[in-house]
Amino acid sequence: MAVEAIPLTRGQHWLDLYRRLRDDPLGTFTAAAREYGDRVRLGIGPRELLLLSSPDDIEQVLVMQNRKFHKGRGLTFTSRVLGNGLLTSEGEFWRRQRRLAQPAFHRQRIAAMAHTMVDYAERHTGTWRDGEVRDIAEDMMRLTFAIAARTLFGVDVEDEADTVREVLTLAMRHTNRRIRALVRVPPWVPTPANRRFERAAARLDHVVLRIIQARREDPNAHDDLLGLLMGARDEDGSGLSDRQLRDESMTLLLAGHETTANALTWAWYLLDRHPAARAALEAEVDQVLEGRRPTPEDAGRLTYANAVVSEALRLYPPAWIIGRRAVEPFTLGPHTFPAGTQVLMSQWVVHRDPRFYDRPDQFLPERWLDGRTKGLPPFAYFPFGGGPRLCIGKPFALMEAVLVLAVTASRFRLELVEGHPVEPEPLITLRPRYGLKMTVRRR
Ligand code: HEM
Repeated sequence: MAVEAIPLTRGQHWLDLYRRLRDDPLGTFTAAAREYGDRVRLGIGPRELLLLSSPDDIEQVLVMQNRKFHKGRGLTFTSRVLGNGLLTSEGEFWRRQRRLAQPAFHRQRIAAMAHTMVDYAERHTGTWRDGEVRDIAEDMMRLTFAIAARTLFGVDVEDEADTVREVLTLAMRHTNRRIRALVRVPPWVPTPANRRFERAAARLDHVVLRIIQARREDPNAHDDLLGLLMGARDEDGSGLSDRQLRDESMTLLLAGHETTANALTWAWYLLDRHPAARAALEAEVDQVLEGRRPTPEDAGRLTYANAVVSEALRLYPPAWIIGRRAVEPFTLGPHTFPAGTQVLMSQWVVHRDPRFYDRPDQFLPERWLDGRTKGLPPFAYFPFGGGPRLCIGKPFALMEAVLVLAVTASRFRLELVEGHPVEPEPLITLRPRYGLKMTVRRR
């Protein structure tokens, strides 16, 4: 049957749609879904994208019919930087890597990491001076990077955090320009932008290879993620190749800190804009912790802090869109779509849909506590994706976000600097475009 979904481009020139998507993807995808419905074809010159915005369709793609899809087309960033790691690989190869890494993320392991998370949060906020202005986006990035490197790779990387942040930003902006470009210059053509990107990627390589090298020279066995990867053996006794070790390490180091840092940054922003929520968080932290360090068990008791994290992930989902490419035909309701269809599913769009959330644009952590969100269809909320490719780091990220919030809120109140512009920048992840300048006040 022919695809009946209505193209957004009807009555518009595709170049106009292209410009809108390039300049304001969040607004344009939202408008497409709200105006044209849950299945919309977006035609951009020879390319066509299918935007799905109903939880049922999203569940079909990510769960029920997941075998008919691969990740979206290989992007410069993903292939040059992440290689063939967990996030990007497919099929049997992916399954083996996922099985290998999974034990590093078991619940008890995460609980054991909680102490390190608290140590680093205390150490980091311990350097803050009452009344100073800080870029909290940078702070959160540095902190989550240090935590990921220590808990998953067993190394201290304080010196490298700034390099990684700078280089990652450059690499993501470059990738975004490429995704949105009408004509893509191949990455091997030495344009200034391609050369800058290559230099940035090489610096990231250097950081990761240094971490692997440090561990190769360390005679002690470690049971963290890097230990698991380095100790893995095939039936024939061979381990991961250097290349594979590099790809998996890069993937987990980058995926393991950037998203959580953004979630925390948006949470601080939202708390500043909603003083009643901030007061409720402070009251809970004071009451549950009574001035002591949080334990892994406290993370479960801090119910309001958990609701703050859930609500921040709803309004500013760090992974704001998921892409898939059909490798065989698939069917949604009465529509059959051919192999090769590019599918997009946006957390930003669905998480703000008034059909599922009352006052959808408002920050209301209470909605996660008073039963209002109980009856939601499963994929009305999917900050971590779903199905077999569900984020492997979900329990890690949630534990870390709650503990960092609790440690920080028990010591400081963060206030947005008057006049500082705040605007989401949808790169591969969703960041505040101008960072987040906040005054930190000791409580
Ligand atoms: C708030 C924080 C985080 C968010 C919002 C997030 C979001 C996501 C999403 C949406 C996916 C699925 C992508 C897709 O289906 O195309 C994903 C996959 C993944 N995430 Fe996360 N993530 C977070 C934290 C983490 C952490 C802390 C780690 C590691 C320590 C991590 C490692 C990964 C990996 C390796 C995958 C690929 C899994 C696979 O395909 O088997 N993430 N994440």
